[in-house]
Amino acid sequence: MGGVQFEEEDVTEEPTSEAPETPEGEEPIKQRKNGLYPGVSDELAASMKSGWADTEQHDLEPLAQAPHTARRRAALSARFPGDRLVIPAGNLRTRSNDTDYSFRASTEYAYLTGDQTEDGVLVMEPEAGGGHTATLYLLPRSDRENGEFWLDGQGELWVGRRLSLTEAEKRLGLPARDVRKLADELRGATGPVRVVRGHDAGLEAALTDKVTGERDEELRVFLSEQRLVKDEFEIGQLQAAVDSTVRGFEDVVKVLDKARATSERYIEGTFFLRARVEGNDVGYGTIAAAGPHATTLHWVRNDGPVRSGDLLLLDAGVETTTLYTADVTRTLPVNGTYSPLQRKVYEAVYEAQEAGIAAVRPGAKYRDFHDAAQRVLATKLVEWGLVEGPVERVLELGLQRRWTLHGTGHMLGMDVHDCAVARTETYVDGTLEPGMCLTVEPGLYFQPDDLTVPEEYRGIGVRIEDDILVTEDGNRVLSAALPRTADDVEAWMARLTG
Ligand code: GLY
Ligand code: MN
Ligand code: MN
Repeated sequence: MGGVQFEEEDVTEEPTSEAPETPEGEEPIKQRKNGLYPGVSDELAASMKSGWADTEQHDLEPLAQAPHTARRRAALSARFPGDRLVIPAGNLRTRSNDTDYSFRASTEYAYLTGDQTEDGVLVMEPEAGGGHTATLYLLPRSDRENGEFWLDGQGELWVGRRLSLTEAEKRLGLPARDVRKLADELRGATGPVRVVRGHDAGLEAALTDKVTGERDEELRVFLSEQRLVKDEFEIGQLQAAVDSTVRGFEDVVKVLDKARATSERYIEGTFFLRARVEGNDVGYGTIAAAGPHATTLHWVRNDGPVRSGDLLLLDAGVETTTLYTADVTRTLPVNGTYSPLQRKVYEAVYEAQEAGIAAVRPGAKYRDFHDAAQRVLATKLVEWGLVEGPVERVLELGLQRRWTLHGTGHMLGMDVHDCAVARTETYVDGTLEPGMCLTVEPGLYFQPDDLTVPEEYRGIGVRIEDDILVTEDGNRVLSAALPRTADDVEAWMARLTG
């Protein structure tokens, strides 16, 4: 490959912001977004080309999940014979000016490949005799000859070393090719194509005349439903995510006094620190909601005060490096002891959660745990005189929902709300099977401005959320290490802070 012809210039002049020219027929190097390049002398250009060690890794082991990703691709292949399937990882997204959000590969891509690098694309090419050949398209290592590695915004000198295509093949168990050739290859391809939309606009643009919304949606739905039942590897990852989350909750309890002197952000930061020190991330924005903020379901601003006497609703989940996330909520008394009314509401939610968890077993309808929990909550609301009974009337009209607000749970996996585009008949109207993992998370929320409840209730929000695996004979609470009863929560807090 011919190198970039760097500008002929007098290096004694002021540096210029002009980029090196690109030889005809070559893709231009994508410039760093601010484009402020100093001039490059021939000597510097020549120097940058050489003197670098060969770092190719020859002894890479396949990823632990490689056998699982192969099985998942085989199931995908069987579902769409004869179609070319395109599953992109997605691209970096600008946060501001020339900074990007941290990259998170699309769930579909990571599930099928084990890879998580930006711009990657899995292509399943149909074979004449049936089945597909899976190929991973990746950005290769940066070229040093043409200066790409230090002059391009995606050059390895800026963003870090990538796997070579050969290394990627060893690690992921798939043939790997240069992704920069893919759009042209796809433009020239014949036959039906399906792409997972929403991740890579450039690739979609190259496919506009080959794909249909309906076919693409079928692919997306299949990939969502494929994840309803987790394999052994996934269950292990989910348990690891939950275990780390438990440690994060313990960390938060230990610093509640410091949070009282600052804000909910101290709690968010403490939980995030646990995720990071263990090499992980969080699977969604931590909800650190103290006092009346607990009544806002997705309170992620986390900029409010943490006051003694208030409740803290902490909804947080560590996401493993393999992208499996926990989703756990505890509602804790900031000063370590529930007030009588806080305890009354908490124990009602606990009772609802117990009823919900008891309804999680293979063969049960997905809706059963929701119905069981809602019945308990409706009964409590009637008992407390907040809504007129009988309970059957309340449930039929859904009147309890003014205070229960959300569904009692959801599938959990690589996405916190996993399998979100599965069809109603396989998910919400479906039947639980061993290997499914879901949350059970009833709550009661009395808004600060809710004039229909006595004043003392206003501003109280309680949710208890655990992660449950459906087993062959019932269920396993993956987050059982965190205490749930009001007494156990108080004792646990006393132990951690005492
Ligand atoms: N953390 C969001 C949820 O519980 O669904
Ligand atoms: Mn949840
Ligand atoms: Mn949650």
